[in-house]
Amino acid sequence: MSVSVASYPDLRDRGVVISGGGSGIGAALVEAFVHQGARVAFVDIAEEESRALVARLSEGVAHRPIFLKTDIRDIEAYRSAIALAGEAIGPVRVLVNNAARDDRHELADLTPATWDESQAVNLRHHFFAAQAVAPSMREAGGGSIINFSSIAFMLNMGELPAYAAAKAGIIGLTKSLAGKLGPDNIRVNAILPGMVVTERQLRLWIDEAAIAAMLDEQCLKRSLTAEDMVGPCLFLASDASRGMTAQSMIIDGGVF
Ligand SMILES: NC(=O)c1ccc[n+]([C@@H]2O[C@H](COP(=O)([O-])OP(=O)(O)OC[C@H]3O[C@@H](n4cnc5c(N)ncnc54)[C@H](O)[C@@H]3O)[C@@H](O)[C@H]2O)c1
Repeated sequence: MSVSVASYPDLRDRGVVISGGGSGIGAALVEAFVHQGARVAFVDIAEEESRALVARLSEGVAHRPIFLKTDIRDIEAYRSAIALAGEAIGPVRVLVNNAARDDRHELADLTPATWDESQAVNLRHHFFAAQAVAPSMREAGGGSIINFSSIAFMLNMGELPAYAAAKAGIIGLTKSLAGKLGPDNIRVNAILPGMVVTERQLRLWIDEAAIAAMLDEQCLKRSLTAEDMVGPCLFLASDASRGMTAQSMIIDGGVF
């Protein structure tokens, strides 16, 4: 199915930072913002995929995206990357907190160290990235922060307690940051994807049976792809949603 994407003129030349932009949903978002004419910087640890994406998006675009190899678990390194991004693309007006890793765990196997590591890769960086971009957004007169949560935390999925806790935490964080940053015209919203069929999901977790089971639950009887996240994310980034903050947008084909 071809996806038609709206054009948001206010996103042209706008500074956008995306975490985990090298593959999956993040890569679809990098591409979409680039095609809106935005100035995009993205961080990822997946060097090969990220460089291939930049190469693919370097012709016929207003601004080619900038890739900064960064591990978002290392907050000091991530802060430096965001500062570098700001120098390269101008004031950051949109932040998409997308990087994550949905590891599964046996109950007995989680340790305090693996628990903390899961929160570092799935939750902690959302806050510190928001903290890092808030001053430039404030100075520019406003901004939009989009946090990727997941419906997984509402599905009683026993195999991912640490990921589910992080994804639920993102909803609370979204509302708190919206309260704090609203007076500066900085909006903070969350997107909760359902099952999005990406390469990694197919490689690691989902098979035909899992897809069929999810389609049974969905109102829409087709699998969601990364492109299904693009329209909602552009809308939240753009001034088209300027009255909307502290909200959670579920994009799951109608499971909830
Ligand atoms: N795919 C789904 O079905 C689904 C469902 C619900 C929510 N989500 C959420 O959507 C977002 C994107 O998911 P996705 O399926 O595209 O994931 P993905 O695993 O395909 O991509 C995540 C990206 O983050 C990067 N990343 C991982 N650890 C990193 C680190 N330490 N530092 C920097 N980058 C790192 C990866 O290299 C990858 O490019 C995530 O927040 C995920 O939790 C996805």
